[in-house]
Amino acid sequence: MNARYDRLRKPIAVTADFDAPRWRRDFPALRQRVHGKPLVYLDNAATSQKPRIVIDAVSEYYQKFNSNVHRGVHHLSELATEAFEGAREKVRHFIHAASVREIIFVRGATEAINLVAQSYGRSRFKAGDEIILSEMEHHSNIVPWQLLCEQTGAVLRVIPITDAGELEPGACEKLFTSRTRFLALAHVSNALGTVNPVKDMIACAHEHHVPVLLDGAQAVPHLPVDVRELGCDFYAFSGHKMFGPTGIGVLYGREALLQNMPPWQGGGDMIRVVRFDQTLYNDLPYRFEAGTPDIAGAIGLGAAVDYLEHVGMPAIEAYERQLLDYGTEQLQRVKDLKLVGTAREKVGVLSFSVDGIHPHDLGTIVDREGVAIRTGHHCAMPVMERFHVPATARASLAFYNTREDLDTLARAVEKAHQVFL
Ligand code: ALA
Repeated sequence: MNARYDRLRKPIAVTADFDAPRWRRDFPALRQRVHGKPLVYLDNAATSQKPRIVIDAVSEYYQKFNSNVHRGVHHLSELATEAFEGAREKVRHFIHAASVREIIFVRGATEAINLVAQSYGRSRFKAGDEIILSEMEHHSNIVPWQLLCEQTGAVLRVIPITDAGELEPGACEKLFTSRTRFLALAHVSNALGTVNPVKDMIACAHEHHVPVLLDGAQAVPHLPVDVRELGCDFYAFSGHKMFGPTGIGVLYGREALLQNMPPWQGGGDMIRVVRFDQTLYNDLPYRFEAGTPDIAGAIGLGAAVDYLEHVGMPAIEAYERQLLDYGTEQLQRVKDLKLVGTAREKVGVLSFSVDGIHPHDLGTIVDREGVAIRTGHHCAMPVMERFHVPATARASLAFYNTREDLDTLARAVEKAHQVFL
């Protein structure tokens, strides 16, 4: 392993007692065989598997109290509303937001970012205003801002990244100007695993009176997140990457900002009074939740939060760091393999290429060994361009993965090497 990378990393808690195989038993999908081999699921950055408690929570809602929320006085509607709002409180507690008014249920991180771009940005930004992003953003934290630029004449400024996949030092001093209006930044990169120095970036942005949105989709499953300690203005994440259902996600927004933002979608539940000459909007957070929400999804997300709190985010963080170090060592032993993304602070993402083998071929061969990884541009084409590769293979970890999983991955990649070279 790169010595500099080793030396500069934060010390971690001892995690000898973290029992990943025990937690793994809570995930029914992980028990299957694929192509006759035990499944080794290493595509957690794309989506995580779901523990029984989440599956049961969704199923229980549909079987026992399926009903609409906030609308009925009947018993089932009351139960549904209680469970839905209970999930909001669980999410608030999980990310340490000050109030449930700051927790908006959306479809996922993508919708959360679009909401901020359209509601916060569209009503404020003017031609020539500048929005800062980084070169490592997922498309979902690029394209909504490009759409906004087309609508308002604002322009994007991009923080470059280094060969290790870290933000170029000094970006703040170089890029912030009197025209900067917004910073939208990945907390953790999905393609590289880099954990960005978000507190420093937020401090810098706030010195320039610029609000900050963090894309936390790849952070919440791996690190304890405290939005007040971070000091961010908005935080976006998806349920399905944190062991919850698909189709549900969260936008956290500081109440003072949300209060002054116009609704971005109209419909039921986001209103107080509707007349043809004037409509009065509902209070937070409902003003941003038009239409029947994903009730089952929110309840499932609440169960995922319960589960993660039970396992313990600090323990997950510490265990996954050790697992990442182990996986990094194993992969570096494979001939002709190059890691893409060697930041000092990383979560468990191992992006790599093997000279002479296309990542898609790699993905297909390791799949035959029962190993699920993602290959492609990972919805981060600018990262691929930066590293001059069309695509990478990416193994992404969760706390239910083990060293044996990474041994199987390394053996499968070696096998691909033998087949092709
Ligand atoms: N954003 C997801 C990924 O990184 C889909 O794979």
